[in-house]
Amino acid sequence: MALVVLFAAGFSYYLGTKSPRDLDPASTLPLALSRELKHNNDKSNLEAAWSDFVAIVGKENVSTVEDDLHTHANSDWSSYRNQESQKPFMVVYPGSTEDVSEIMKICHARRIPVVGYSGGTSLEGHFTPTRGGICVDFRRMDKIIQLHKDDMDVVVQPAVGWELLNEELAKDNLFFPPDPGPGAQIGGMIGTGCSGTNAYRYGTMREWVLSLTVVLADGTIVKTRQRPRKSSAGYDLTKLFIGSEGTLGLVTEATLKLTTKPANTSVAVCSFGTIRQAADCVSRVVGRGIPVAAVEILDDEQMKCINEAGTTSRTWTEAPTLFFKFSGTEHGVKEQISIVKDLAKKAGSVGFEFAKTQEEQDELWSARKEALWSTMAVAKPGDKVWTGDVAVPMSRLPQLIEETKDDMKRSGMYGTIVGHVGDGNFHSTSEIVPHPVDILTRPVILLSNENQRHDAEELVHRMVKRAVELEGTVTVSSYIYAPGIDLD
Ligand SMILES: Cc1cc2nc3c(=O)[nH]c(=O)nc-3n(C[C@H](O)[C@H](O)[C@H](O)COP(=O)(O)OP(=O)(O)OC[C@H]3O[C@@H](n4cnc5c(N)ncnc54)[C@H](O)[C@@H]3O)c2cc1C
Ligand SMILES: *[C@@H]1O[C@H](CO)[C@@H](O)[C@H](O)[C@H]1NC(C)=O
Ligand SMILES: *[C@@H]1O[C@H](CO)[C@@H](O)[C@H](O)[C@H]1NC(C)=O
Repeated sequence: MALVVLFAAGFSYYLGTKSPRDLDPASTLPLALSRELKHNNDKSNLEAAWSDFVAIVGKENVSTVEDDLHTHANSDWSSYRNQESQKPFMVVYPGSTEDVSEIMKICHARRIPVVGYSGGTSLEGHFTPTRGGICVDFRRMDKIIQLHKDDMDVVVQPAVGWELLNEELAKDNLFFPPDPGPGAQIGGMIGTGCSGTNAYRYGTMREWVLSLTVVLADGTIVKTRQRPRKSSAGYDLTKLFIGSEGTLGLVTEATLKLTTKPANTSVAVCSFGTIRQAADCVSRVVGRGIPVAAVEILDDEQMKCINEAGTTSRTWTEAPTLFFKFSGTEHGVKEQISIVKDLAKKAGSVGFEFAKTQEEQDELWSARKEALWSTMAVAKPGDKVWTGDVAVPMSRLPQLIEETKDDMKRSGMYGTIVGHVGDGNFHSTSEIVPHPVDILTRPVILLSNENQRHDAEELVHRMVKRAVELEGTVTVSSYIYAPGIDLD
């Protein structure tokens, strides 16, 4: 009997191996079934890694100085407050792609978490190491490697800043449009998939990166593609990395698309009695398909702050204000200004001023540039700032801003509002069509104590809810402990 059973079992097993098993019905691996990440932040492990890093980049390029750890954990302008434990154990400064690869191999083998750091201007704790480990700061990798004038592209290292890059490019009449915070650098701009005031006309970072060299978590070096602009081959790995905040790999080299520097540019500033009138003006300009380069809206409180901070050379009307940037041929710019001036008047503008020289342009735009800093400047010592972003369709903007301002007042909080007409719709400069735009509203709220922090959180939650009800999107985390945003 036993023999028969054994034989039957053995035979069934044999048959089982003959017929193929059913395929797993799931085509993806649910997170719940994936293995949990395990890090090793033991002091002895990190100290041993220190010696490994020193062997690669030298003692002078690894820092455990308290000040460095602090500045690589947070910034005054970030809305995320890191805890004392959320700082890197050390900061490593690689000098090349190979250095980064060697560093990542060590971190991989030792299970050490890694966070990349470029300009450190991101606003929501993007570079705060919430899981301990190390920070890889790219500041030594700040070279423009090669400019291909004829192909209109440039190969750069991650710590090249967009401002400096444009200074260099201007010598050859070339231009790289994405313009996020002053001090931001290519590595971080790729990390956040940034936008900027020029996004209205030129699109966001996603449109301006041709290829990337990336070091993956295990140290593997990949290049996403070659230089040609037109290629339909394969997966778009480049875009996958843009906006991934360093979670998929560290960018060590980028080939960027360039365009020609606009022959002429100008700036106009225009104030209104109400936010509604200002929004109406934007709708008219967009509706007519005027190819303005940028439109920014600042509320009366923001204008007041700029005056109080006194960092610009003039005194501004403390009313809802639109800032326009124009670019094109000399004739084109003149024409755009005159049309916009006319449309502004129809919408009820109370003042319209435009720049005739480069100096006047810089002066007029300075108020927009100083917006965040001026709100911080009127803060009392110890105050914290909280920024938050939501985007709504243009027509819903007045309601969103008015209700949010009322809400701020009711909650006894002080804040200013900057809106960004930056839909990220990309237009080649030769083909500009009218299109519905979204407008991003970013309140900057001042907090003087921890209680207010909770109130601010509630306020931001309500704003997010309001925006969603107005068919908007939340491009920033409303919740204080949730990093990960898109600042379009
Ligand atoms: C006054 C002000 C105005 C701003 N205006 C805008 C705006 O209009 N639009 C906008 O989009 N943003 C704006 N920002 C936010 C900020 O400037 C952008 O998010 C910018 O892209 C961040 O670049 P960074 O070099 O400072 O990056 P960091 O802060 O250093 O890093 C940002 C993220 O990228 C990752 N990272 C850094 N380097 C690398 C790398 N080499 N490889 C992979 N990942 C990396 C980091 O880990 C982090 O997650 C503003 C900020 C300020 C202070
Ligand atoms: C450390 O960085 C400095 C500055 O970039 C560089 O000159 C030096 O060679 C680096 N040290 C090593 C060992 O690579
Ligand atoms: C506009 O173009 C004209 C002619 O090319 C030039 O003289 C002038 O300096 C330009 N102005 C600006 C603000 O770029």
